[in-house]
Amino acid sequence: MNDISINTQTLDAGGLVAHFVPPELAVVIPTFKERDNIALLYKNLSIALEGTPWEMIVVDDDSPDGTAEAVKALGRQHSNIRCIKRIGRRGLSSACIEGILSTTAPFVAVMDADHQHDERILPQMLSKAQDGAELVVGSRFAGEGSAEKGLSSTRLWGSNMATRLSSLVAGRNVTDPMSGFFLIRRDAFERVAPMLAADGFKILLDLIVTSGRMGAPLTIGEVPYTFRSRHAGESKMSPLIAIQFLGLWLSKLTGGLLPTSFLLFAMVGASGVAVHLATLSLATGPLNTGFVAGQIIATLAAMTWNFFLNNVLTYSDRRLRGIKLWTGLIGFYLVCSLGGIANVSVASMIYDFQHATLLAGLAGAVMSSVFNYAVTRMITWK
Ligand code: GDD
Ligand code: MN
Repeated sequence: MNDISINTQTLDAGGLVAHFVPPELAVVIPTFKERDNIALLYKNLSIALEGTPWEMIVVDDDSPDGTAEAVKALGRQHSNIRCIKRIGRRGLSSACIEGILSTTAPFVAVMDADHQHDERILPQMLSKAQDGAELVVGSRFAGEGSAEKGLSSTRLWGSNMATRLSSLVAGRNVTDPMSGFFLIRRDAFERVAPMLAADGFKILLDLIVTSGRMGAPLTIGEVPYTFRSRHAGESKMSPLIAIQFLGLWLSKLTGGLLPTSFLLFAMVGASGVAVHLATLSLATGPLNTGFVAGQIIATLAAMTWNFFLNNVLTYSDRRLRGIKLWTGLIGFYLVCSLGGIANVSVASMIYDFQHATLLAGLAGAVMSSVFNYAVTRMITWK
């Protein structure tokens, strides 16, 4: 029998499934600690999407508050709920990517769990996509849209700054490239997906920039909405995430040549130089340790600083904890010492050739940063 089309009716053991209707729209919801938002969100989506076959796919990073369990319990009552529970992982972009790739629906929306995005515009977004837009953005800044309610004044300022920076790399007329609320054709997404950076907070910006770079910019539509304030729980946005965004933005500016993690690693290294110099002046000044002892203390302080900062910033998605944190620290000291040797040898080699102190110093520093980055990525944060 070569015919693989099976009559689903015959498979409906127990008569639970009357007939199968494939989803037209999947709504992907990344979550971290959003338990108390799920039930109401599902209810609101059901009302908004009445008449459209749809499914809800929650991608949860093993939230300690039991978000995934709440989703699965709800999924025992409704057939259009799925939960992807990821263990030992964190990250908004990768959660969205994996959720989108998991569905069979031809159209996929991404929205937050906290009710800040207005689900009532979903039908309008969907019909724009059905009419030909490959990507439809829910915009806080187009037409009637507004963001004032949902953001504090510092967040609003930061958001405006980030929007401007983004337009610069996006090179497109999108009013809200930082939106976390959009709808995309799945086939268009799958075309771009292999080139996306999984380590960011801003998947939409990445989609716009990357599709443009691939020479196949997505056709974009927008639907305005009013950004609401968060329902239950707390925002995961933090200064660290803002710096990670800066890293992603710089990476996009280099056309993806320098990975975000390298740029973050380099920024951490630069801050480590400041820590080094501050410690050195403290040690040789008020503490009176003498230069050699001061330099040793300062080197240790800078390495320790770099390790912990890289652990929460550059590698927040694979942060070391518990015993691995301490073995990681020792390994990091060792790698950086080798990096230091590489630094001094390259610098003195160049200095021997050409007595250019600054050039030699810079080459040494670049050499050790690349070395430290490459090696710690392989052994410390693998
Ligand atoms: N799976 C997973 N993993 N989900 C996450 C993670 C993570 O590491 N971090 C955050 N989330 C989920 C949250 O649970 C929420 O559903 C959604 O992502 C947005 O997180 P919030 O913490 O509410 O972010 P926000 O409100 O500060 O920022 C949102 O609005 C911005 C617009 O101002 C996001 O949508 C941003 O992308 C958007 O730019
Ligand atoms: Mn939010």
